[in-house]
Amino acid sequence: MELIIDNISKEFKDKVAVDKFNVTLNSGVYGLLGPNGSGKTTLMRILADVSNASSGDILVNGQSKNKLGAKYRDLIGYVPQNIGFYKNFNAEKFLYYVAALKGVDKNIEKSKVDELLKFVNLEQDRKRKIGKFSGGMKQRLGIAQALLNDPKILILDEPTAGLDPNERIRFKNLIAQLSKDKVVILSTHIVSDIEFIANEILVMKEGRLVEKSSLEDILDTVRGKVYTLSISERDLEEVQNKFKISSMIRTNNDISVRIVGDKKPSEKEFKYIEEEPNLEDVFLYYFNESANK
Ligand SMILES: Nc1ncnc2c1ncn2[C@@H]1O[C@H](COP(=O)(O)OP(=O)(O)O)[C@@H](O)[C@H]1O
Ligand SMILES: [Mg+2]
Repeated sequence: MELIIDNISKEFKDKVAVDKFNVTLNSGVYGLLGPNGSGKTTLMRILADVSNASSGDILVNGQSKNKLGAKYRDLIGYVPQNIGFYKNFNAEKFLYYVAALKGVDKNIEKSKVDELLKFVNLEQDRKRKIGKFSGGMKQRLGIAQALLNDPKILILDEPTAGLDPNERIRFKNLIAQLSKDKVVILSTHIVSDIEFIANEILVMKEGRLVEKSSLEDILDTVRGKVYTLSISERDLEEVQNKFKISSMIRTNNDISVRIVGDKKPSEKEFKYIEEEPNLEDVFLYYFNESANK
């Protein structure tokens, strides 16, 4: 499976939301990482074929989305950022409803719904009203509906927002199982959520792809640029002006400040040690703002 996003742009009246986005994706899990407003949802809506690009094309195994038409949509599973559920439906009824919309073969409909309820661990709750579901349950139901047509390309827009720690672990396991023969693209602005899920990270900034690497390689881009300084209170302002600060811990006598930047601190000025970078540092480096804000 090869999915090419070929020079996709999307302009709204006075705003370029996606700006000549180019990337080639193969089976695996891709994390689309960018702050709010960077264009993730706009790009995903185009990929899901619920919105049209202003220019550019999408190619699956060399064939254009426009030529593939309905065949393209058969390849896609999509969980929107704010998926709407009918609160009075129960889980099972909702899946049958979506199956009908997607034109799932009546002969396999029941076995498919059963299989997916089991897969996302909602078997016990199949008759419960969705209005009573937790965030994690809704999210798993969202994934189940997206899988009804056996998609080869699964698009998940901010799937980890609002999950509690247990739900996060469940979600990670679910995605790991799915990624064998699919292109899975999930977006997030929460750095820590992407760290263990995605093999490849796509960093999106102001509509553009600014970095595409494995987690290891992307960490390498800031290796040697992350330090912890030991400073006194009176040096804090100067440090804040000179460096991007990712975290700060105050102790009795001094402050430990974790910084990232191209400038190496001067040994004469500060006591410091070099740190092993994490993805939060990467985010700070690229976006000049701390993550999870
Ligand atoms: N329908 C729309 N009309 C006008 N501007 C839009 C529309 N949808 C999104 N935008 C703008 O496009 C930019 C990217 O938005 P979005 O794709 O939602 O980003 P993200 O999902 O990364 O938060 C934002 O500046 C947003 O305000
Ligand atoms: Mg969004």
